[in-house]
Amino acid sequence: MCGIVGYVGRQQAAPILLDGLSKLEYRGYDSAGICVHGPMGLEAMKTKGRLQALRDKTDDGKKLPGVIGIGHTRWATHGAPSDQNSHPHLSDDGVIAVVHNGIIENYMELKEMLISKGCHFHSDTDTEVISNLIALHYREHHDLLEAVRQAIRRLEGSYALGILCREFPRQMIAVKKDSPLIFGFGDGEYFIASDVPAILKHTRKVAYLEDGDMAVFTANSVSFYNALGEPVRRTPETITWELSAAERGGFPHFMLKEIYDQPNVLRDTIHPRIQNNHVVLDEIPFSPSVLKKIRRIYIVACGSSYYVGCVAKYILEKSCKIPTEPIVASEFRYADPILDENTLCLFISQSGETADTLAALREAKAQKAKTLAIVNVVGSAIAKAADQVLYTWAGPEIAVATTKAYSTQLATIYLITLYLAEVLETMAQEEIQAACKALYGLPEQIQACLSQERITQIQYYASTLFDHRDAFFIGRNLDSATCLEGSLKLKEIAYIHSEAYAAGELKHGPISLIEPGTLVLAIATVAPLFEKTMANIKEVKARGAHVLCLTTEDLEQEAKKTADHVITVPKIHPLLQPSLNVIPLQTFSYYTALARGCDVDQPRNLAKSVTVE
Ligand code: AGP
Repeated sequence: MCGIVGYVGRQQAAPILLDGLSKLEYRGYDSAGICVHGPMGLEAMKTKGRLQALRDKTDDGKKLPGVIGIGHTRWATHGAPSDQNSHPHLSDDGVIAVVHNGIIENYMELKEMLISKGCHFHSDTDTEVISNLIALHYREHHDLLEAVRQAIRRLEGSYALGILCREFPRQMIAVKKDSPLIFGFGDGEYFIASDVPAILKHTRKVAYLEDGDMAVFTANSVSFYNALGEPVRRTPETITWELSAAERGGFPHFMLKEIYDQPNVLRDTIHPRIQNNHVVLDEIPFSPSVLKKIRRIYIVACGSSYYVGCVAKYILEKSCKIPTEPIVASEFRYADPILDENTLCLFISQSGETADTLAALREAKAQKAKTLAIVNVVGSAIAKAADQVLYTWAGPEIAVATTKAYSTQLATIYLITLYLAEVLETMAQEEIQAACKALYGLPEQIQACLSQERITQIQYYASTLFDHRDAFFIGRNLDSATCLEGSLKLKEIAYIHSEAYAAGELKHGPISLIEPGTLVLAIATVAPLFEKTMANIKEVKARGAHVLCLTTEDLEQEAKKTADHVITVPKIHPLLQPSLNVIPLQTFSYYTALARGCDVDQPRNLAKSVTVE
């Protein structure tokens, strides 16, 4: 979704803004623009399309001289991608320039009011009302800070804003509510951005602004105000990871790099939390007596994070004996979920900014449920809003299609499960210790799944199966939950129509879609159900399907008797098997997308961080 960068300092702003925007490309965008306060006043250049088009238009920023400026990558919501709809948006009188990430829900009403006062609009966006509203109040009071305050008081919705005023050539104002915004402290320069990589080249000192915060700053000074307008301190944290973590590092795509990052980031997520074959989760704030009262667990998330929840249901119910329901966040909010203080709600999110998940979290808190977030981005809105957060230490994930975040989320679910099972005494000590030992060794097993031999085999299947129009993923139990993620990967980056079904469910309808040549990817790693899945493979093969089966090494020969092709992963503790199974599905989608000539890292229509409902 939209990305914001702002700079005030002594260097030329435009090249810094363009570079910062390039680090936000991963968020997904369809147009870009910058506005610099220079010798000619506020000057904006913007264009539909990729950032390179803006670089060309501005001659790499040289056409916009000045040491203060704002930049934006836009993911269209109100109005098609076009030069006109691109940000920054200037007020009709040219006094105020704004970049905005978020949605103004009451923009139509405000637009009508502004039109009735003689204001002309030049775009279809909701953002243009913000610059005009600030300009209106500024004309009334000639006090910029007060004008911004009055304007945002009238806004309903979400916004991270960077604001420039023609009459204040050295000052910028930034405001945040329900959309991410960080503030960077440099030496004689300050920055704002939607995410850390945009400014990490310039500073490691970053404050995660709170909802309602306003920052008023020049190159030499900054003042922060909270939602009540009171002066507050926002102390910077030091970013410890390197910019290289958010760069491709020699890989052709971020997705491939992130696939190969998995053994390391799983080590970072798991190892510090296992000691002497026991899970140590200091982050869980609830006492054993509180945990023993938990009667139901909801797992609330979107997309792949939700599919982690689908795996988690099997694991938590089996190991902890607590009814567990995964539910997509956009449904949870409006489903009148039955919540009380004996309900534990887990919110899973890589970005920590997903609007639906954040709203669901607020709903759960309002109904007094216990809330625990599993989040990757430190300081993000979901991390801050939950009772407690368990971070997945996946590092920055740039490719739109998640891989390493999914894997670390799953690992965090195992940690929570084994921790709860020990507190609730639902698993024997020896079982817990065996599972902890296996979990500690998971990164090594993932490494084995990424061996050159296995990757070559996957590349071969991708190169021979890539031009299928449709695909079906089938599996049982934990495998059926992994199918959901495998199918999503293929849809989102390879644009292949793909469905995931519990293997036993096919004959209740979807099998009518199987015809000669239909691609079926069957996962058969749950040993007690292996024969049943083979029977389902036979059913689809009888109708002409072409079946690629994923199973464990020990079952390879058996699977070969039924499926057309077989790929394997090592056999691990049954609870952890989904973590290995997803690796060939990720690589299969990656190489299939490549073979189809798709933009792997930035698939069409998708955004990395979905901050709208
Ligand atoms: C997965 O590859 C997708 N990018 C998407 O489904 C994603 O998992 C979903 O939008 C949730 O995002 P979050 O984890 O940041 O909340």
